[in-house]
Amino acid sequence: MDLTPALLVEGLAYAYPDGTQALFGIDLHVEPGERVAVLGPNGAGKTTLVMHLNGVLQAGAGRIEVAGLPVTKQNLKEIRRRVGVVFQDPDDQLFMPTVREDVAFGPANFGVTGEALETAVTSAMAAVGVRDLESKSPLHLSFGQRRRVAVATVLACDPEIMVLDEPSANLEPIARRELAEVLLSLDRTMLMVTHDLPYALQLCPRSILIDGGVIVADRPTEKILADTQLLAQHRLELPYGFKIP
Ligand SMILES: Nc1ncnc2c1ncn2[C@@H]1O[C@H](COP(=O)(O)OP(=O)(O)O)[C@@H](O)[C@H]1O
Ligand SMILES: [Mg+2]
Repeated sequence: MDLTPALLVEGLAYAYPDGTQALFGIDLHVEPGERVAVLGPNGAGKTTLVMHLNGVLQAGAGRIEVAGLPVTKQNLKEIRRRVGVVFQDPDDQLFMPTVREDVAFGPANFGVTGEALETAVTSAMAAVGVRDLESKSPLHLSFGQRRRVAVATVLACDPEIMVLDEPSANLEPIARRELAEVLLSLDRTMLMVTHDLPYALQLCPRSILIDGGVIVADRPTEKILADTQLLAQHRLELPYGFKIP
């Protein structure tokens, strides 16, 4: 058995250049194949954590390893191949003239060429159901379609870990459900930031709750959602009428 965690975060602390201390010592181990939801109120530090996982931000203190490889400046290219981040706003991810070119951009950048590239691109588009949109401009797609293309751009790179920041935000109910089905069908390590507690329950057996830059709970998702006092303390709330099955 491989005992190296897919993701190891130890003592991660970070302050922004303006002095705002966003993370105060995060410890997190994620095993290969685990799907973990990252819950917490606005300003908790969720996005700051995500931006450390592929080296967009450099840790102020502590260490991060992805499948045993430290996230450092020297390893950045390999880290970005291993960790695919789907940003909260798909418009931060899509910039090519067509969907196909956007999906090809990542793997091409990592040196995939020829038939392997075509296969990676086509299967990533098929996985999220956007093959029929391949020649369209991302500018002419609906928000839900752009979100799915953004997921495909990451999938095409075949990352070991997928990190998604608020994947269900601003999606209509059907698009939200379809994206859940896509994500459930992917067999890989996943970290998903979300305010959508039923989504966390559906997709992630384990959840961590972050507030004020620290992890305040790390438990099975159903246990966290059943603890109404804990949720209330951290400004989280189940939708009206939602009962944990
Ligand atoms: N670029 C920045 N410069 C200074 N402070 C920031 C910056 N981005 C976020 N912050 C602050 O860091 C804290 C954590 O923010 P963030 O990680 O975006 O929270 P979340 O994603 O949980 O809503 C907040 O206090 C936020 O105001
Ligand atoms: Mg955020």
